[in-house]
Amino acid sequence: MTFAANLFEGKTLFAAGATSGINLGIANTFARLGAKVFVLSRSAEKVETAVATLRETGAQADGAAADVRDYAMVKAAVDRCAERFGPIDFVLSGAAGNFVSRAADLSSNGFRTVIDIDLVGSFHVCRAAYEHLRKPGAVVINISATQSFTPMEGQVHVCAAKAGIDAMARVLAIEWGPEGVRVNTIAPGPVEGTEGMRRLTPSEAQRKMLADGIPLRRYATIQEIADTAVFLCSPAGGYMNGEVVVCDGGQSLLGGKSFSDLWAA
Ligand code: HXC
Ligand code: NAP
Repeated sequence: MTFAANLFEGKTLFAAGATSGINLGIANTFARLGAKVFVLSRSAEKVETAVATLRETGAQADGAAADVRDYAMVKAAVDRCAERFGPIDFVLSGAAGNFVSRAADLSSNGFRTVIDIDLVGSFHVCRAAYEHLRKPGAVVINISATQSFTPMEGQVHVCAAKAGIDAMARVLAIEWGPEGVRVNTIAPGPVEGTEGMRRLTPSEAQRKMLADGIPLRRYATIQEIADTAVFLCSPAGGYMNGEVVVCDGGQSLLGGKSFSDLWAA
């Protein structure tokens, strides 16, 4: 989609989990629209590469290696972003972990690890950014998944974590709305060319079977998810608050069975 090239000029995006895949795509799109972008993830090497990619757009970009499970690390990164680029306008929280495991095979630590990264990590990012955000026009985007409301076998940890994110975001929308901060969530379905789908559908046969079960008969592109984030942060989305915006080609209308069929094969 085409947006005015200077749509986000003068704005700052803090983006957690944005050194690869969907979240890097969002960060890159915001950079191309004029935003200053600060990215965070665990790997210093991935941070360095992502920052270099973002700078190629001509945008100011920086980053920090940090684990969203560690509040002090997240807070230090958010503060560094604000020192470097000024008040934070947009926060993207999308760090996540995923693997396929039925509940009976999943250890307590396996379950807790995904809850800690996805749910506790998202709270850390939102909480740490709050002091820098509290002004009209500020927007938080959390990245959930349709598993938050569509139960899927092999995804008990992810379904629980993402449902928690949706619930958390709705509460923040109520608490922070009076200060002008809008908090929304994007729930993508399968997105092509991503680590998430490499883990869920490792073979081409599985990938095709899943795509054939989506009403639009294809996965989303990373750009389509990024465009949804642009809409939510732009004035066009100015009255959207507390929403879980599903972007899945209609897949969740049919339930989560398509995934179980894949893994039974
Ligand atoms: C069962 C597993 C497992 C697996 C790990 N565990 N992988 N259990 N099946 N395949 C268990 C381990 O045995 C351990 O429990 C616990 O989880 C923690 O494992 P670690 O390797 O120590 O965790 P950590 O190093 O923190 O890494 C987290 C991770 C890893 C989630 C396990 O894969 C990761 O870093 N992922 C980040 C990238 C990613 O997943 N991207 C995809 C996001 S996409 P024990 O009991 O042995 O100690 C996504 C898509 C959503 O979310 C929807 C698509 C439609
Ligand atoms: P991805 O490329 O693996 O992206 C995950 C990002 O999070 C990476 O930058 C990773 O970098 C970072 N990260 C992981 N654990 C972290 C931690 N503990 N602390 C800080 N950063 C961490 O995955 P993706 O497939 O693009 O998914 C991105 C988001 O979209 C996730 O929230 C996912 O649940 C959601 N989603 C994806 C799909 C899909 O089809 N792929 C569908 C629905 C929802 P490091 O490894 O350097 O930490």
